[in-house]
Amino acid sequence: MEKVTFKGLSFEPYIKNEEIQKEVKRVAAEITKDCEGESPIFLCVLNGAFVFAADLFREVDNREAEITFIRYKSYQGTSTTGEVKEILGLHEDIEGRTVIIVEDIVDTGTTASQLIASLGVRKPKAIKLATLLFKPDSLSTDIKPDYVCFNIPSKFILGYGLDIDGLARNLKDIYVLSNDSE
Ligand code: IMP
Ligand code: MG
Repeated sequence: MEKVTFKGLSFEPYIKNEEIQKEVKRVAAEITKDCEGESPIFLCVLNGAFVFAADLFREVDNREAEITFIRYKSYQGTSTTGEVKEILGLHEDIEGRTVIIVEDIVDTGTTASQLIASLGVRKPKAIKLATLLFKPDSLSTDIKPDYVCFNIPSKFILGYGLDIDGLARNLKDIYVLSNDSE
């Protein structure tokens, strides 16, 4: 694996796809166990989570499981704008069901906490949060992800769905911003 360059910034290999798949399977097995006998609805937060959600959902062994999509946007370049915009809303009835939010990354937690608050009024049975990546040191809200593949330091990440201004989502592995780029 070699360094990649996007928007004039250099990124180095960080987590290989094989390693990602291992953790996805682990988390999927946990969800399968916790949702036994239920009909959970997975809520994929677009755009970033679509790659993770596709892999995770296919590893979950539950014949009653459904998946749907919601779209939020909070990032511009490599830093958060602090403002979250809903671009595509949720139309499914979630009353009495277990909702599993699927995020690519929980950074400040703003997106996730806003989403959890807006879902609460629809009376779901439970709301769980599954994230590929979690930056505990960046957290500025009091949310706690229920399922995490990787805890990482507060550095900018790319690939496997994560983007820089829409680019790099199709990299199979995860990359981190090089120190010499900061
Ligand atoms: P939060 O609301 O601050 O938790 O940020 C959530 C969203 O910011 C994620 O769904 C990502 O789209 C984006 N984000 C946060 N950190 C990164 C990163 O390191 N790389 C790419 N996108 C990121
Ligand atoms: Mg993004």
